[in-house]
Amino acid sequence: MNVGVIGAGYVGLTTGVCLAEIGHKVICVDNDKDKLDKLNRLEVPIFEPGIEELLERNFKEGRLKFSDDIGEAVKFSEIIFICVNTPPKEGGFADLKYVEKVARDIASSLEEDYKVIVDKSTVPVKTAEKVKETIIKYSNKNVKFDVVSNPEFLKEGSAIHDTMYPDRIVIGVESERAKEKMLELYKPIINRSEVPVKIVSVRSAELIKHGANTFLSLKISFANLIAEVCDAVKADAKEVLEAIGLDSRIGSQFLNPGIGFGGSCFPKDILAFKKTLEILGIDCSLVESIEKINERSWRRFLQRIEKELWVLDGKVIGVLGLSFKPNTDDIRNSPPLKIIEVLLNNRAKIKAYDPKAMDKTKKIFPNIEYCSDPYAVAKDAEALLICTDWDEFKHIDLKKIKELMLIPIIFDGRNVFERKLVKSLGFKYFSVGR
Ligand code: UDX
Ligand code: UDX
Repeated sequence: MNVGVIGAGYVGLTTGVCLAEIGHKVICVDNDKDKLDKLNRLEVPIFEPGIEELLERNFKEGRLKFSDDIGEAVKFSEIIFICVNTPPKEGGFADLKYVEKVARDIASSLEEDYKVIVDKSTVPVKTAEKVKETIIKYSNKNVKFDVVSNPEFLKEGSAIHDTMYPDRIVIGVESERAKEKMLELYKPIINRSEVPVKIVSVRSAELIKHGANTFLSLKISFANLIAEVCDAVKADAKEVLEAIGLDSRIGSQFLNPGIGFGGSCFPKDILAFKKTLEILGIDCSLVESIEKINERSWRRFLQRIEKELWVLDGKVIGVLGLSFKPNTDDIRNSPPLKIIEVLLNNRAKIKAYDPKAMDKTKKIFPNIEYCSDPYAVAKDAEALLICTDWDEFKHIDLKKIKELMLIPIIFDGRNVFERKLVKSLGFKYFSVGR
């Protein structure tokens, strides 16, 4: 099938290359000229494992092209995905101005042949209805189209795998015709691994995405709450949570305590969901608690550091990990950056290393010392913070680290190390909830 994808960010680009990979012809549209130039040179503007290979293959084999022209994509495609960003507005509700603009641009290019317009961006419930109204308002009256909600559940760092082998595909549709088109589009993915497909109403589909992200962030905040209790009574959160997670009704994933969740989705989506509840007059204190515990998670870590180091002014503090999670260069809402900001305000000297996120961080903190590896960070440091659980850090030579540090103290914000091992090497070691 011919497909258009509007917005070539994390979600749009992944969607575009994966749809090309399963055999469709795809035009990806973006209004960022630099991004398009890079993509046309086969340079991926983001770090995402596996995406480069798919981009190159499908581009060279003619199934994928890039454009700044929404009209071209609309004319070419049977299905058009809206994948532009939906950042929070002041007050927390999702800012839908890019979605609206794209809907208007699509409307002005529609002709008489039938199109399916798909909302893939995470949007509040009832957005598809607004998109439909917008298209009707701004198009010539004979147009035939349906608006579908098809939320994406990909995680950064495993985006390609999550798209090619999803846990489920959710399609919110109103018409049989749109449903058939969407099933045809995803047929290769559905057949390959017998993926469950949920055909639901458009409003349900929109709520599934916000509901899933709120529940996942609830699990993380619950784990951080347990860690807080464990710190207070000197129990081990790892032991407690592992055993809780063994209950198959609960499950072990997303129960790892740490310095809290970040990224472009959870913080924004729970804020938007909270606003939706407020607008509907529904008590939103559960969602508020998730946010509060999350904020407390990185603040508690900082308090530990301040308590142990006493005076921060002039202290050399090494930071391992800047991205909001491993396997990505994304630093949006990254807890490590919040921690660094407070340490800098207290006049600590920061040395930092991250396998992928240093370039992006340099734009925010140009004046901290960026190092080529963890050992350079450790040299002469008076404390070492583990802020992102990159695999690389798990295999670090701790003996060497100890020799390099001025004072061997590790604050492990992601519970990366075995407590006994680190202590046996002579470090003072603080982790979360253990
Ligand atoms: C996506 C979803 O759209 C968002 O709703 C979800 O919650 C998180 O993931 P993401 O792909 O991460 O966002 O956003 P981003 O990387 O910012 O990409 C958006 C792209 O759309 C950018 O490349 C931007 O240049 C482009 N864009 C934006 C347009 O082409 N036109 C616009 O009018 C606005
Ligand atoms: C999330 C959702 O998982 C995905 O389904 C949705 O489509 C987009 O939002 P993403 O933001 O890429 O994906 O990251 P995710 O892997 O969910 O991690 C989010 C944050 O939670 C990270 O900061 C991570 O460090 C933190 N986290 C995760 C924990 O603190 N503990 C855990 O147990 C799991």
